[in-house]
Amino acid sequence: MRILAIETSCDETAIAIINAVGDPRKNEVEFDVLADVVLSQVKLHKKYGGVFPSLAKREHAKNLIPLLKQALAESNFLNIKAKTKNKKLNAKRSTLNALLAREPGLLQQLLGFIPNTKKPDIDAIAVTYGPGLEPALWVGVNFAKALSLVWNVPVIPVNHMEGHIFSALLKRRCEKKFSIFNFQFPIVSLLISGGHTELVLSKKWLNYKIVGETKDDAVGEAFDKVARMLGLPYPGGPEIGRKAARFQRTGRRMSGMLPRPMINSGDFNFSFSGLKTAVLYRLKEHKKLTPKLIAEFSHEFQEAVTEVLVKKTIAAAKKYKVKTIIVGGGVSANKRIRDAFVGESRIMNHELRIFLSPLELTGDNALMIAVAGYIRSVLTKTIYKPRDIKATGTLRLF
Ligand code: KG4
Ligand code: ZN
Repeated sequence: MRILAIETSCDETAIAIINAVGDPRKNEVEFDVLADVVLSQVKLHKKYGGVFPSLAKREHAKNLIPLLKQALAESNFLNIKAKTKNKKLNAKRSTLNALLAREPGLLQQLLGFIPNTKKPDIDAIAVTYGPGLEPALWVGVNFAKALSLVWNVPVIPVNHMEGHIFSALLKRRCEKKFSIFNFQFPIVSLLISGGHTELVLSKKWLNYKIVGETKDDAVGEAFDKVARMLGLPYPGGPEIGRKAARFQRTGRRMSGMLPRPMINSGDFNFSFSGLKTAVLYRLKEHKKLTPKLIAEFSHEFQEAVTEVLVKKTIAAAKKYKVKTIIVGGGVSANKRIRDAFVGESRIMNHELRIFLSPLELTGDNALMIAVAGYIRSVLTKTIYKPRDIKATGTLRLF
């Protein structure tokens, strides 16, 4: 099955095309990556110190057709045809107009692109419909519906967080080929990103129960806010990681000074806003932000976050007697957090396996959406009516 996937939930516009075969239940799936393109808007949002939703939406609308062309060219599906009068397209014009009424620029680009391009050899379009920034999600969803109409292929709505989960199960065979790791249910997934911090229990395929989540800030958000306090640019996560790596312990130790919020709460919920405030107060004790201080604060903040994430995840894994731990989402790119989980997996021996999302798939991408779309399509065999697919900013795993 060939799937074209579209991801526009936040500040990355991404399109991937995969050829997938096999049954996930038998652990026999193989994915050929035919195209995988991501355009990050990070530089544009930097000056706002975070993602600016209306800018994100506008950029997605501007970049979807160029990215689609790039993905089709990469997969050798870009087939230019002689310009013909397209009666079928004319018949669909009013629906297309309605779908992309709010994106006139994208509509114009699409109407210029379709008559000149043959339908690619794909069987379905997977699209992220939530969670994320709703205006940004709508651009991707409506674009998917428009392509589904002109190419006459079904749309599979995908939960972005499910994509992050599956990305951790991908085993790279070679540069453009993945299979699924041999893993066992139950799974507990720690999903850590700019908008989410949650522990999700899965007893079988496509079965999700959120057993813990943040009560306030998401961990990525905390990284970004603390980075801002330290005068570091957006996105703050990677910046803090880099500064923390420069930290060299001197005589005076700060360790233990920052709280480990809710570490002994007995449940699997998190809270990072207190930690952020603690950093703020601690910073006020210093007259000047020196590079040494920035490194020290970055290090200590990262230590506090890592300790809480690891402890709660392992506790959840034990309580629910899981066989597999998954760590995914943008923050799972953090080296300290990755190393801490690798350390845990060594202690665990083979009774519990820990899978970290491959580094290059930790950030938002469409490959994980394509994989989730395939698995969902094979296991549920549901045919979705495009008009029932609605972008849902607050979508939860269920
Ligand atoms: O999953 P993602 O790309 O987008 C969302 O769905 O939110 O996650 C983005 C978040 C940002 O908050 C960013 O600062 C954080 O992931 N992040 C990191 C690192 N790389 C990205 N946080 C800590 N360490 C990193 N290396
Ligand atoms: Zn994400």
